[in-house]
Amino acid sequence: MTAWHHLSRRSTAAALLATLTLAACRPASTPPATSPATPGAGDARYSGTFAGGWRFPEAREAAFGERSMVSSNSDLATEAGVEILKSGGNSVDAAVAVGFALAVTYPFAGNIGGGGFMVIRMADGRTAALDYREVAPLAATRNMFVDSLGKLTDKSVVGHLASGVPGAVAGLDAALQRFGTMTLAQVMAPAIRMARDGFTVDSALYRSLSGARQRLCRFEGCSTFFPDGQVVPPGGTLVQADLGRSLQLIADRGPEAFYDGPIADALVAEMQRGGGIITREDLHAYQPKWREPVVSDYRGYTLITMPPASSGGITMTESFNILERFAPLPAFGTPEYTHLLAETFRRAFQDRNAKLADADFVPVPRDELTSKTYATGLAKQIDLRRASKTPAFETAPEPEHTTHYSVVDAMGNAVATTTTLNGGYGSAVWIPGGGFMMNNEMDDFAAQPGSPNMFGLVQGEANAVQPGKRMLSAMSPTIVLDRDGKVLLVVGAAGGPTIITAVSQVILNVIEHGMTLADAMRAPRMHHQALPDQIRVESIGFPDQTLVALRAMGHEVVTTQGIANVNAVMRVPGGWQGVKEPRGSGLALGY
Ligand code: GLY
Repeated sequence: MTAWHHLSRRSTAAALLATLTLAACRPASTPPATSPATPGAGDARYSGTFAGGWRFPEAREAAFGERSMVSSNSDLATEAGVEILKSGGNSVDAAVAVGFALAVTYPFAGNIGGGGFMVIRMADGRTAALDYREVAPLAATRNMFVDSLGKLTDKSVVGHLASGVPGAVAGLDAALQRFGTMTLAQVMAPAIRMARDGFTVDSALYRSLSGARQRLCRFEGCSTFFPDGQVVPPGGTLVQADLGRSLQLIADRGPEAFYDGPIADALVAEMQRGGGIITREDLHAYQPKWREPVVSDYRGYTLITMPPASSGGITMTESFNILERFAPLPAFGTPEYTHLLAETFRRAFQDRNAKLADADFVPVPRDELTSKTYATGLAKQIDLRRASKTPAFETAPEPEHTTHYSVVDAMGNAVATTTTLNGGYGSAVWIPGGGFMMNNEMDDFAAQPGSPNMFGLVQGEANAVQPGKRMLSAMSPTIVLDRDGKVLLVVGAAGGPTIITAVSQVILNVIEHGMTLADAMRAPRMHHQALPDQIRVESIGFPDQTLVALRAMGHEVVTTQGIANVNAVMRVPGGWQGVKEPRGSGLALGY
């Protein structure tokens, strides 16, 4: 019986509960190297026990494959990846296939008009981190989103100025050239087929397009997604002929077709028509960048994750280093565990929001923020009984966006990729003739340092707009190695800043709480990002007495419907398990 189970039966006062658990949860002078924090952690896996009424019952099955696994937010994109694996491709070939397929079947976040990050761990031990984040156009200026009265406008979110120079096509090609075994034409074949001949709309896409109709129909994409003025119903076929032609051009000519050829012409023409600032020079200059992954040790497990221009890797590493100072961690679902996570994330996000940015433009204290010594200092500041405070700001709604997919192959090559247009359907600006949507990634800059962005994130000067700079991201594609150095988990998420906290929690659920992957994904999630100064918890996932106890510690606690959208793959005896996000659409499929 788990501590959570005990908790759900307990009527003990929160203060007594806190006292009992805190006795076992002290900052450690040296982190234990290998001992699991809770019974069940390590290799053995157990079902979680979740709060009564929680919408995802525990002890469900995961998809299993002896050789390989793909998990993404789109059934058809996952199938495209499996098709490539079955035809002899490796994980990178499959990941590139999934990336292009998502641009067709998951237009909400899949894209060729956006960008992303990919973390790779090859079976021979090589690791790599690919940054194909968008960059600010050369004509971008620090105050381009502030009006003459000094007020922040919405132009970083909607319309032509909201877009950074897209990186997706160059990035996917770079990954394929370095680690793939197939040609662009081979891996793009499923995407081209689905765009040109159409694919069957499922109810998730139908609902998504129906909800976005007003935004999409401000721009030219309306006629593609609402042929005859109507959204294609579930079971109907959606054809994207222009996108199919663009993809074919890219398959035939490589990224040059997008950055220097006919697609570039279409993109720049639309920018000029709509008052955007992306030029041919911007497109010509775009380069994806290979970065040194952030690699850290957590109680003997190895985390391989993304450095700037994403904040994900450093912020997660800082969080795990702080948590490592506490042994054992409080049991899953207790107020003490939620409090400790909140105080940990609060500190890591304070650093994130103030100090992280594109390291090619501003000095980023990467070594300091990821050091164990630095984490020890932060851990010592945490009062296990009381919430600390950060100045309050207004909260912002948490829009859904972005998409993550995880791939492993029979050799053990692993790829974690997160890609995005930023908001769902990005800026909604459509490239006529090109057949794709542009991103609104400029909002990930601190458009006005000190003011919250669309995620309520308050960021500093380091992440201010500068021409050619990459806007700070929270995307956290991550590969976790077990204590024998073998790939254990391939994981990442959508959800803005909640990406960092959700990915961390899925990893902790597996390696600290010993949950099966299915339960690690289904477990209720919380979030804290320093500002707004509040814990967000998934509604009904946390028993009332936990919320009461957290409030008694001084936390503002707000409930929310769902936090983040994770897709994960885990090694299990005899093969791989995959779990698509229980809160969202998609498919995990292996063979
Ligand atoms: N566009 C969301 C992120 O990069 O974090």
